Amino acid sequence: MHTLPDAHLLALTDTSVVVGPRGVRRAGDQPPATGEVRLAPLEGETRPGERFCARFGLASPLLSGAMAHGISGPELVADVSSGGMLGFLGTAGRPPVWLLQSARDLAGRGCHLWGANLIHQPGASQQEEAIARTLVESRAPWVSLSAFVQVTPRMVGLAFQGARKEGGHLVRARELLLKTSLPAFARAALGPPSKELVLAAAAKGWLTREEALLAITHPVVDCVVLEGDSAGHTDGRQWTELFDALQAGREQLLQARRGREMWIGVAGGFGEPGEVARAWEAGADFVLVGSVMQSTRQAEQGELAKDMLVAAAPDDVGMAPAADMYEFGARVQVLTRGTSFARRANLLDTWGRAAANGLPDGEELEPSYEAITGESPQTAWEATQAFWAIRDPEVLVRAEDSRRLRAALLVRRYLGLSSRWARRGDVDRQDDFQIWCGPAQGRLNVWLTGCHLQDWRQRGARQTLELLWRASLTTVRVWSLARYELPLPAVCPVAWLMEDDDAR
Ligand SMILES: Cc1cc2nc3c(=O)[nH]c(=O)nc-3n(C[C@H](O)[C@H](O)[C@H](O)COP(=O)(O)O)c2cc1C
Repeated sequence: MHTLPDAHLLALTDTSVVVGPRGVRRAGDQPPATGEVRLAPLEGETRPGERFCARFGLASPLLSGAMAHGISGPELVADVSSGGMLGFLGTAGRPPVWLLQSARDLAGRGCHLWGANLIHQPGASQQEEAIARTLVESRAPWVSLSAFVQVTPRMVGLAFQGARKEGGHLVRARELLLKTSLPAFARAALGPPSKELVLAAAAKGWLTREEALLAITHPVVDCVVLEGDSAGHTDGRQWTELFDALQAGREQLLQARRGREMWIGVAGGFGEPGEVARAWEAGADFVLVGSVMQSTRQAEQGELAKDMLVAAAPDDVGMAPAADMYEFGARVQVLTRGTSFARRANLLDTWGRAAANGLPDGEELEPSYEAITGESPQTAWEATQAFWAIRDPEVLVRAEDSRRLRAALLVRRYLGLSSRWARRGDVDRQDDFQIWCGPAQGRLNVWLTGCHLQDWRQRGARQTLELLWRASLTTVRVWSLARYELPLPAVCPVAWLMEDDDAR
């Protein structure tokens, strides 16, 4: 593949490329005196993701992923939807009633194109079930499934509850988007479920007899997004590897699906148009982004946290233990610039392991819990007890006999509070902010350098997706020219914005 030197291409209209000196073109500005080139669509050009968009009624194949604790809330999802694009509400850490209210809020805004996330919670199955039920009740048109590692009866229930046949074709009550970094699991979910899984879903009352019969012969999901190195939970792989691994068995998969179409997208690291264009060249049906949406006006993240995000370089990220699946050893990718959270959380993890194994009475662990978190273990334990007494008192009963669980709960207190401090903009705790973030945010920052959209207050969610989409299209066009060795414009690292790209 030919790439252009310094080719942070330009943001443009659908039909032209503009190459010019660094800067932003605003309405009424004259075109740059030198270096401007316009590039119309190439003859015979097919749009990336065209069939995916046509199938699901979307204006563009760029999707906005779920962000926990409602960071992607109704405001963000509605803005994305206003451009005919798909965004997901982040339900993790929010009660079912929040999902119901958000669904009503979206309906009130006339927004019918939206989705919400169901995160698998092996340690909190009641909470997972409560959200799953609410997804059905709120009639979410799309459900994104994450943290699952195998097909479960719950997945099968969501896939076929309310499904029917029309004109010989399965019509689902909701579309499922499975997000995973495990190609073998993706393959299993793209095929029909086992009889045992269907029976288990029916036994739970999630499927009628007719729905169960449909389930036996149809694939569990039609859409999969393979996620590489991303914000939050990640195993840091490259999306290209995952995509190639799944494509390798494509023919067999289509046979198992009896020819029913499937849609494979990618996620993880997409923050500038060149990377998105690479996904189109690889043959992805769609691209899902997360990090770059967190630093938009509509994201329910604290202002201070957004200021920190737009200052990040691509490598200002690191790994830390995850609050939600701490006992399972899960880790998350977070911002490391302007906050010591990752360093402290890793120290605390070491503290937690030592405390779980038990040191002789009175022996103090170094550094101490208080030195790491700023809170004495006694105060922290009292607050932890008060929290769990309301949420799930059974946990406290188990903790009485388990030093390991007590230590884990103390560690999880800090891991849980640190993301809340960021959302609330608690200045005193800025150095403890936990902000989920992948290298994509820094890549966006580099791309937008010198442009007014560097300031997140100027940047909308819909606008960010549209910019990436259009600029990726023009990047593909320029690469096509390069392939035919046609003369190319001299390119400089710019984000030239046309009038209609200005902040909405
Ligand atoms: C602040 C934040 C919170 C996230 N929370 C969730 C979540 O609760 N559930 C989930 O499936 N993915 C979550 N993600 C991941 C995104 O949905 C998306 O898959 C990911 O960010 C894509 O990779 P990227 O960050 O490199 O763009 C979160 C991402 C961010 C930035």
